[in-house]
Amino acid sequence: MIIEPKVRGFICTTAHPTGCRANVANQITYAKEQRKTLSLHSANSPKKALVIGSSTGYGLASRISLAYTYQASTIGVMYEKEAAGVRTATAGWYNTAAFESFAANDGLYAQTINGDAFSREIKDETIAKIKRDLGKVDMVIYSLAAPRRTMADGTVFSSVLKATTDTFVSKSLDLRHNIIEEASIPTATEEEIEATIKVMGGEDWADWITALVEGNAIEENAITVAYSYIGPELTYPIYKEGTIGHAKEHLHKTADLLTKEYANHGIRAYISVNKALVTQASAAIPVVPLYISLLYKVQKELGTHEGCIEQISRMFTDKLLIDKPEIDANGYLRLDDYELDSKVQDKINALWNELTTENITDLADLDGYWEDFYTMFGFDIPGVNYTEEVDASVSIPSINC
Ligand code: NAI
Repeated sequence: MIIEPKVRGFICTTAHPTGCRANVANQITYAKEQRKTLSLHSANSPKKALVIGSSTGYGLASRISLAYTYQASTIGVMYEKEAAGVRTATAGWYNTAAFESFAANDGLYAQTINGDAFSREIKDETIAKIKRDLGKVDMVIYSLAAPRRTMADGTVFSSVLKATTDTFVSKSLDLRHNIIEEASIPTATEEEIEATIKVMGGEDWADWITALVEGNAIEENAITVAYSYIGPELTYPIYKEGTIGHAKEHLHKTADLLTKEYANHGIRAYISVNKALVTQASAAIPVVPLYISLLYKVQKELGTHEGCIEQISRMFTDKLLIDKPEIDANGYLRLDDYELDSKVQDKINALWNELTTENITDLADLDGYWEDFYTMFGFDIPGVNYTEEVDASVSIPSINC
């Protein structure tokens, strides 16, 4: 079939297998380049990694970096859909199919489990695979971004993206029409805050680490990292002080608890505070896409713009896998250092006040926003012929065979 993008608001309901493959290939090229800068027998190199949320965004970049910069064996956990009838697979499905095929050609172990990472069944299945194939893992990346969590008793918690103090009124980007609108983001109820913490807080991360320790599937001195965001004051009401910020605060506390609880085991849990980037998760947050399009504009002009693979590579090589990890006063790895640089934020604040629908294409990098958006689903990638028929049905070796 010929596959075209079908965009509905902040989501694209189709994905292109050849484009997603090209996307993964580009990230692999970058990760291989970074390998040249490493001392190859570094004792810090992870060898067997588990990536939870491995198919898109920061998790995919982590998997690619671990495999292609550090030559690590990787097991990925994701929640994606394969193609069915006229429906294409999700981008994460195609990314993973491509990643596994590249890894197989390059002699790298890569297996994937597709299912609900919150469930006990998927944890057990993952641990059984680790024990069978790798023995134990020495690196666990927690990169889930999920809209809901189903508990063992069937209770469902849904995360919401709301303010928590007052209704937040702000400029926002109407992604359907590329116009500036005024968004009014309501205040969450206590239950909504609690539900968001259940989904995006640290409880499930801790459950994974406990399950791995109890299952004897994690090495002494293993490292685990979960991803977070803080952002500038401009977005505090919707992010840092919003429902999602409460969940991230819980995640941050969980890192300390895990490091303390498993001190005898030598496990170290870190939070990496990453940069705001266009991903399926961030596109859904009100106000954030507009902020991102200004951030791209300013950072590209200053030459400090990075995508997921650049961020994650820098996290591993410059901040984490060095003799003494580079952490801030709170113990966090700061990959949002360039984003929060005052030169960047002062410029954004000035532009924010001037922004209107009429001048948005001049002041903000809307093209850059949409380029990343389409790339995420495998579209608009140079070198891919989108007029060619493609088979939407692509199998993932470790799942379909
Ligand atoms: P994403 O939407 O690109 O990736 C989410 C991943 O989670 C996918 O692999 C998906 O398959 C998996 N997933 C979702 N629900 C699942 C479930 N129930 N079971 C198994 N797998 C599931 O998201 P993104 O943006 O890469 O986010 C990852 C983490 O990075 C999140 O914690 C997010 O808050 C954080 N982060 C994101 C930033 C951004 O601007 N995108 C900035 C800083 C941190």
